[in-house]
Amino acid sequence: MTRLIFLGPPGSGKGTQAAQLANNEQIPHISTGELLRKAVADKTPLGLKVKSYLDEGELVPDKVVLDLMGERLSKDDARSGWILDGFPRNVAQAEFLDKLLGEVGQWTDWAIAMEVPDEVIVDRLRERGRKEGRSDDSEETIRHRLEVYREKTAPLIDFYRARGQLKSVNGNQSITDVAAALKQAIAS
Ligand code: AP5
Repeated sequence: MTRLIFLGPPGSGKGTQAAQLANNEQIPHISTGELLRKAVADKTPLGLKVKSYLDEGELVPDKVVLDLMGERLSKDDARSGWILDGFPRNVAQAEFLDKLLGEVGQWTDWAIAMEVPDEVIVDRLRERGRKEGRSDDSEETIRHRLEVYREKTAPLIDFYRARGQLKSVNGNQSITDVAAALKQAIAS
């Protein structure tokens, strides 16, 4: 059974790698960003509430995300493992996840820190913004997302390292090479 958390700055390849690995392992890929973007696209009450946070590259308030994840992780398909992509994103979310898992006798195997230099990230996301038009992929918002990452999410690297649950992967190589490095990291 595989239970992984993908940490890493915006554009570090969390979604790309999480989707591939989840498909190989036949477990759900749970991306808070995708769940929130779908709610925005469907114009649900949740989507209307969170749209401005996503557009500005701010974190959505914890209460909203914790309710969403509590519900998602209680679904049947999450019993046999998962890959979390973009959650937890701060220490309060990580503590919530611990509590939730503790209640059902589950645990996280590894938190994977994807490492990619800022300038590579800005290039990747500007390119995606040009091709796909994601609302938060303008250069100004990309740089703001990187600041939010450093302030709020990067402390989770020490959080998981202190518990012996951290693996780092060089995300600045081809998608195939990142996948190979990831496979090796979680097997060792
Ligand atoms: P989220 O959707 O999580 O976005 P993000 O963290 O900014 O991450 P990205 O999706 O931009 O990048 P990624 O690391 O997944 O890389 P990807 O594989 O896509 O969050 C969006 C927003 O939702 C947040 O700003 C916040 O508002 C809200 N939110 C989400 N979770 C939240 C939470 N827990 N709490 C509060 N708010 C939350 O790759 C990026 C690009 O690079 C792609 O074009 C890809 O093709 C390319 N690429 C990938 N790997 C490589 C490679 N090895 N070489 C070259 N190109 C590559």
